[in-house]
Amino acid sequence: MKREDLKIIGNKTDNKNPKWTGAFSVSKGEEVLQFHQSFPEYEETPLANLPALAQKLGVQEIRVKDESYRFGLNAFKGLGGSYAIANYIADILDVSISELSYEKITAPEVTEKLKDITFVTTTDGNHGRGIAWTAKKLGVKAKVFMPKVSTQERLENIRALGADAEITTFNYDDAVRHAKSVAEENGWPLMQDTAWEGYEEIPSWIMQGYLSMIVESVNALNTPPTHVFLQAGVGAMSGAVTGFLANYYGDKKPIITIVEPDKADCIYCTAAANDGELHSVEGDLDTIMAGLACGEPCTIGWDMLSAYADFFVSIPDNIAAKGMRILANPLEGDDHVVSGESGAAPFGFLCEVLGNPEMSDIKEMLGLDSHSRVLCISTEGDTDKESYRRIVWDGEYPSV
Ligand SMILES: Cc1ncc(COP(=O)(O)O)c(C=O)c1O
Repeated sequence: MKREDLKIIGNKTDNKNPKWTGAFSVSKGEEVLQFHQSFPEYEETPLANLPALAQKLGVQEIRVKDESYRFGLNAFKGLGGSYAIANYIADILDVSISELSYEKITAPEVTEKLKDITFVTTTDGNHGRGIAWTAKKLGVKAKVFMPKVSTQERLENIRALGADAEITTFNYDDAVRHAKSVAEENGWPLMQDTAWEGYEEIPSWIMQGYLSMIVESVNALNTPPTHVFLQAGVGAMSGAVTGFLANYYGDKKPIITIVEPDKADCIYCTAAANDGELHSVEGDLDTIMAGLACGEPCTIGWDMLSAYADFFVSIPDNIAAKGMRILANPLEGDDHVVSGESGAAPFGFLCEVLGNPEMSDIKEMLGLDSHSRVLCISTEGDTDKESYRRIVWDGEYPSV
């Protein structure tokens, strides 16, 4: 890989008054985790440890939160959809979300009140699967739209949960607009995992739902991380996690780096422009990192990232592929992680920066050294098994 393949920029924004910090408080994180713990499928996901790789690459610790184990859905996204739908139910029942558990939302007297609802959403795969999974548990309908680049396998995974899912002719952001108009025409709730002006309440619930994975991570770590690397599509997940880390660690917040595909780097472009506006990327957004193939930043996510993230990075597909291969082939004594294209992107970036002397200026910029303790989140497993095998077995998207 050549130095010019990677773009990195420090956070120059001056967001001193973020609006959404309180939504990602330590107590909210604990409340969300307690809610998810009430699910019969709940199990804490592993925090993989890679001591041999850390030694080889010259840092103290590398930990990877493995969300492929989440609820049997092979990705973290079910955390957001389930928590948002529970909030929606809390509103219908006129109770506080803190009073709701899995048992309460699936009680017959509750599901009876929901039976005419259809939840609508757009997804590259993982979020829609989470919405379909939750809808199935409640016995309600889900209508799921997917961008044109979506794979058949991801479509079938959603259909298998009983949702009415289809691949559209749109890119991700236009598919979201389409879902919004279908929802409005029919009076159905839009459960979208990105926010824009005028549509922030439901996405804020979805983002709060993501907190369970970072609460589990900080609870499992003996020593706080010095560096956290997070992937971004619209920036909702990374925004929620970043907001929580700022609340949890305060002055001792780790250095947070946001990683995006270069074909869909709307957060990077927004950070680079630094003009107080959100900047979009248009076109097909054709990257192998399907979960990150989003061209329009999430307003709430950007509020958190502009306030608390430290660096923004844009990477080519073969960096994510490299991350997948390294996690699939651990050094002796290290844990094994099955990580998909979007899951492995920040880890691939980390390995490239630490392992390639051409990237030494980036290593220095990030302050990575033998005292660094790094946390990455592998947000998905092999959600597209065919593609996973082509990359990990056949060496598709080689490092050049
Ligand atoms: C596996 C995976 N990782 C990360 C993300 C990024 O989340 P966000 O769009 O909130 O930035 C997604 C989004 O769909 C995803 O599916």
